[in-house]
Amino acid sequence: MEKRKPIVMSGIRPTGFLHLGNYFGAVRNYVKMQDEFECYFMIADIHSLTTHPDTRALKSHVQRVLAEYIACGLDPEKAAIYCQSHVYETGELYLYLNMLAYKGELEKTTTFKDKARSQPDNINAGLLTYPVLQAADIILHRASLVPVGKDQEQHLEMARTFANRFNHRYVEVFPEPQAFNYGDALIKIPGLDGAGKMSKSENQNATLYLADEDDVIRKKVMKAKTDSGPITPHSPKPDYIENIFLLMNLVSDEAVVRKFEDDFNNCSIRYGDMKKQLAEDMVNFIAPIRGRVNDILHDEKYLKQIMEMGAEKARKSAGVTMKLVRDAIGLSY
Ligand code: TRP
Repeated sequence: MEKRKPIVMSGIRPTGFLHLGNYFGAVRNYVKMQDEFECYFMIADIHSLTTHPDTRALKSHVQRVLAEYIACGLDPEKAAIYCQSHVYETGELYLYLNMLAYKGELEKTTTFKDKARSQPDNINAGLLTYPVLQAADIILHRASLVPVGKDQEQHLEMARTFANRFNHRYVEVFPEPQAFNYGDALIKIPGLDGAGKMSKSENQNATLYLADEDDVIRKKVMKAKTDSGPITPHSPKPDYIENIFLLMNLVSDEAVVRKFEDDFNNCSIRYGDMKKQLAEDMVNFIAPIRGRVNDILHDEKYLKQIMEMGAEKARKSAGVTMKLVRDAIGLSY
């Protein structure tokens, strides 16, 4: 019998507007994973309700995430790409897992404490049980690999706890989900200001978005911090110069990077020229993705079709698990 591929599950919050850090830190790996594993990539629309957003904007946010992921190379034929709210089994599993989650441990969760502090008038039960819902998302497919960043470590630890508790109380149904990275997945994409990384919340001029227009990209790159250049051959590079080389390595030809490395080492480098080159290579990298996102966003029918296809795959996998779950608990009369 053919061995079943390991199962991968991850959730993406529908905040939209991916930047270069998201692309090289996460999306590029999802694209690689869809060829190697059975993948479930979910848009966590229900999780987003815990903070009471204006839900009139939900649809456009969900569509944007979807379009950006497809434009970056996620393939709805290979991976299940779906919306959390389309898979009702998630709600059922969440309900059962809630009986195995203790108030004390939920109250100790870092993200809960942060949110309780930032929205003291809205400390709702959904916020408290956010990690239970996340655990349900993951183990609904009996996933063992979860590609997430460091900020999700505690949630993943809790997912393992709930899965193990279920297995011990009833019958073994779930594997232990583990955080997953390819070796280089945790590279930080530096911001253009020489301080920190590209981020949605920090300095907007230091962050390149996949939605940025060509002239915006050029302007941001040309503003990157440099200096008057090295004066002794083979000097160490200051951080902000190292960052420009790192970005160039991601989008420029090897020969181009090598030329500027040589120029740096023999003190003939002209940072203005280097940034112009980087700007053009960035434009060439980002523009086709931006174009595809816009095309996809114009095609509502296609978007709907993808979501339905993903939901169908996810429901199929969920249905098999939920039968095992109900039998394990004893809900089979
Ligand atoms: N909590 C995750 C975040 O904020 C999103 C998420 C929801 C998730 N369900 C998930 C991540 C399941 C991984 C697996 O980014």
